[in-house]
This record gives sequence, structure tokens and C-alpha cells, in this order.
Amino acid sequence: MTTEAEIDVHLGPDQLHAALRCDVVEGLGSMPKELPPKWFYDHRGSRLFDEITRLEEYYPTEAEREILLRHAPAIIAEAGADTIVELGSGTSDKTLALLDAARHDGRLRRFMPFDVSEEFLRASAHRLAERYPGLSIHGVVGDFDRHLHHLPRGGRRLVVFLGGTIGNYEPVARKELLAQIVEGMVPGDHLLLGTDLVKSTARVELAYNDPGGITAAFNKNILEVINRELGADFDPQRFDHVALWDPDEEWIDIGLRSRIEQQVSIAALDLEVSFGAGELMRTEVSSKFRTDRLSEELAAVGLDLKALYSDRRGDFGVSLSVLV
Ligand code: SAH
Ligand code: AVI
Repeated sequence: MTTEAEIDVHLGPDQLHAALRCDVVEGLGSMPKELPPKWFYDHRGSRLFDEITRLEEYYPTEAEREILLRHAPAIIAEAGADTIVELGSGTSDKTLALLDAARHDGRLRRFMPFDVSEEFLRASAHRLAERYPGLSIHGVVGDFDRHLHHLPRGGRRLVVFLGGTIGNYEPVARKELLAQIVEGMVPGDHLLLGTDLVKSTARVELAYNDPGGITAAFNKNILEVINRELGADFDPQRFDHVALWDPDEEWIDIGLRSRIEQQVSIAALDLEVSFGAGELMRTEVSSKFRTDRLSEELAAVGLDLKALYSDRRGDFGVSLSVLV
């Protein structure tokens, strides 16, 4: 018999709206302007991200899948978890490797995906409930920055955070997010963290500048979200997608550059925003890691690195660490 997935929503339409208003007022009022990447992921944005993961140029997804397919049984055995929490779960596609290994191992009782994107979370939770009858699936719709404490407690945990999404946080915010994640764990619980690794500038820049323009459409989708939700009149054609490697920060700096001098009005905020010709608004950074920095960042929040798995090309890292 299939068990229904249970879903808690901490980010319903009203809360989403209020949070977007705050981020837009703050981000477009600052210099340089910026918008947080969480606003990419409405239904269209989540679909565009899914398309990105299948692009030839976007190597992280297949590299991480290769790692998980090869090492899932060892990871599951080492973690000994009865509960898997997945942060930023999206379609939970690669997570199937872990859940299959866990089914074989026999200890897993509960799976808790957490994501800001309600439709995608619901669809994937129901799909998983069908695929793994008997596994309790408890999804949580929320924002990493505000709702992690709503994840139900208990159980021996493996917290899974894949895709390199941690790299979308800048160092100070990243440390805070890791600390928040650790707050929901007890000593002996494990964190499985996917991180993209530093590599040649050409390959990283190509991954974020695919010739088919899917990444550009994903990036510009943030403007469509603000148009729809806040009655703004952004014309995405008046902005260029920009994604450049920053060698000092070791991240890809992603933004939208205004092609011309222009005024944008945001009706719900009663706000007019000016953009200069060539002005760049940051929408995301995507940090790439080196092993020493990664283990330092984990240690800083009490996590002890037990294993770092990589793909054959050495493009991507999946680390397993334990809370001491
Ligand atoms: N884990 C998947 C998806 C990565 S895309 C993979 O590896 O392919 C990033 C995911 O994180 C998306 O599903 C997005 O909706 C979610 N996300 C981004 N910012 C978030 C936030 N602030 N809070 C919760 N989820 C967030
Ligand atoms: C979700 N995150 C890890 C992706 C990345 O690679 O930083 C988001 C993305 N942005 C553009 N392409 C993919």
C-alpha cells in the first residue's frame, strides 16, 4: 500500500509575497543592486533549472550523479541513518541513488525534503511515496534562511544538501546557514554536502553561459517573477545575462546588465527604480571549492570531514561529515 506524503507549508502565498517585497526593496535600494537567487525558483524557474541540469555544458549534475551512484551504499552504511533530510531537494532526482541504497540497507524510516518551491516539492514527494511504499515522506516548504527550525526533529539523521547550492551563499551567510543546519542535528548525525570544485575558467564560464541561452532565461526569470508578483514592468530584453569567473573570490558572479538607461516601475511597492546604461545587478554567486577550505568551513561549525568523494574528472566533490 502507498503511504501519502505529508507536506507542511511555511511559505504560503502571503508569506512569499511579503518576503519578496522585502528583498526587492532592500536589494534594488542598495548599491550595487542585487536580488537573492531564491526568487529564480517559481514553477518556470524550477523547470528551467531542470533543463540546465541536462545541458552538455553544465557538468555539476552528472558529476554528482556519478559520485552518488558509485558511493551511495558506503555513504548509507557509514551514516547509519533512519531519517534523511534533503535541503533544496528540487526533483530529488539524484537522491534516488541514496534512497535505493537505503532501501537495501533496511534502516531508513523517514525522508524529509525541504524546498522553497512548493509545486516541485509536492510533485517529487508524491512520486517518492509511490516509489518507496512504507517510507514516511514528510516534506517541508520553506526558506533555508528562516524555516529550517520547522523541520521535525528526532531520529538518527543524514542531512543531504546536493547540487552545490551551498555555493550560492557568500562566505559569511554560508557559515550562518551551516550553523543553522547543524542546530537541527545531534552528535553522531551526518551531513552529505555537494560542492563544485575550482577548475579551468573556460569550463566554469561555459557552464553558466550555455550557447542555447537556457541559463540566461533562468537568470532573467527573476524579472518575470517580480513583474507577476509585484506588478513591475521589467522588460527582460533590456537586460543581458552576465556570468563571469571572479578569481579572487573563486566564484562565478552572475547578474543582469542593463542594456540602456531605463526606469522600471514596481506597482505593488509604489516604487520607481533607475538603471544606468551598463549597470550590473547581481542575482547569484556560485562558489567553487578547494578541499582545505571546505574542511575548514565544516570544522568551524563542529563537523568532522570523514570522506570526500569525487567524480573521475575531479570536477565535483561530495563530502560526508559527522557532527562531533
Ligand atoms: N538538489 C537539486 C536542486 C538544486 S537547485 C539538485 O542538486 O539538482 C537549488 C534548489 O534549492 C531548488 O530546488 C530551489 O528551489 C531550492 N532553493 C533555493 N534557495 C532556497 C532557499 N532559500 N530556501 C529553500 N530552498 C531553496
Ligand atoms: C542551484 N545552484 C547550485 C546552481 C549553480 O550552479 O550555482 C544554480 C545555477 N545558476 C545558474 N546555473 C545554475
